[in-house]
Amino acid sequence: MRIIVTGACGMLGRLVCSALEPKHHVIPTDVLEGCERLDIIDTTQVFDTISRFRPEMVIHCAAMTDVDGCERDPDRAYLVNAVGTWNLACACASIDCTIAYVSTDYVFDGEKGAPYTEFDQPNPIGVYGASKLAGEAAVKELCRKHYIVRTSWVFAPHGKNFALTIINAAENRIRAATSPPTHLSPKEGKSIEPLRVVADQIGSPTYAKDLAEFLVSLVGSPLYGTYHYTNAGSCSWHEFASTIIETAGMTQIGVVPIKSEEWPTPTRRPKYSVLRHYRLELLGRDSARPWQDAVREFVSEWTTAKR
Ligand SMILES: NC(=O)c1ccc[n+]([C@@H]2O[C@H](COP(=O)([O-])OP(=O)(O)OC[C@H]3O[C@@H](n4cnc5c(N)ncnc54)[C@H](OP(=O)(O)O)[C@@H]3O)[C@@H](O)[C@H]2O)c1
Repeated sequence: MRIIVTGACGMLGRLVCSALEPKHHVIPTDVLEGCERLDIIDTTQVFDTISRFRPEMVIHCAAMTDVDGCERDPDRAYLVNAVGTWNLACACASIDCTIAYVSTDYVFDGEKGAPYTEFDQPNPIGVYGASKLAGEAAVKELCRKHYIVRTSWVFAPHGKNFALTIINAAENRIRAATSPPTHLSPKEGKSIEPLRVVADQIGSPTYAKDLAEFLVSLVGSPLYGTYHYTNAGSCSWHEFASTIIETAGMTQIGVVPIKSEEWPTPTRRPKYSVLRHYRLELLGRDSARPWQDAVREFVSEWTTAKR
């Protein structure tokens, strides 16, 4: 199948392209160099690209993903996440092409106190979630053949993500504490500063490679509509960080639990945004592996990439 991937230079897009490549004709696109250039906010460019390549499917991973950045610049967030998706959905509809849109747990307010299903009513509490929800609406209204895949806490050994930030920070602190003291930095006897991580927000980590494989499994499926997909299980950011540190054998680093108020950000985040894969469960097709297994693979890939 001929498939356009948007945001193909991003954390998830890269892996979606690699997962598709053995079987499909992939056209990777992004605003960044290294791909076919496609800025999704440019309506003309979007229509030109769709009519030039005439894809049978678009896997839409491009987004403004900086959650605090969205809060600071809501116009930009709506332009990329809502209008950009609208452009793509219109262009896909014009050639009856399927679109898969990657959405987020942040469409929910986090007040339910139990895992959210695909049948729960979204109610975003921040600009990122609201702009992504507007993208969902565009896809639903305009494209008969659509999939919406909501996911959360995506991590990979590349790109910008929490797990990579934690493991790199831990490594840097260990290195700084164990490097020989010099005249300029006399570190002798210095203890390693612990990591402080929020313990009162609960969600489900998702390994980008697993999510990429799930998106690829949808190709050609007639079962359109909304899905929730994450790794199995849930945790706090603090448990997630502690598991990464433990799995990497960096136990000399302390991981201190803190409250959200102790880590102020411009954005209110949902307290509990676990996504239940209810649709997949009902279809008997929920095969997501536990997030702890994915952390083991992440640590192993991170270690290999460092060599
Ligand atoms: N990361 C998470 O935890 C998470 C959680 C839930 C859902 N998601 C969703 O998953 C999808 C993939 O996320 P990701 O983490 O892989 O994000 P990412 O690494 O930020 O990748 C997004 C890519 O889209 C590009 N992009 C931004 N604006 C664009 C535009 N106007 N036209 C074309 N491309 C543009 C970005 O380029 P620049 O880097 O230059 O901006 C980047 O290469 C997104 O839809 C996101 O909302 C992510």
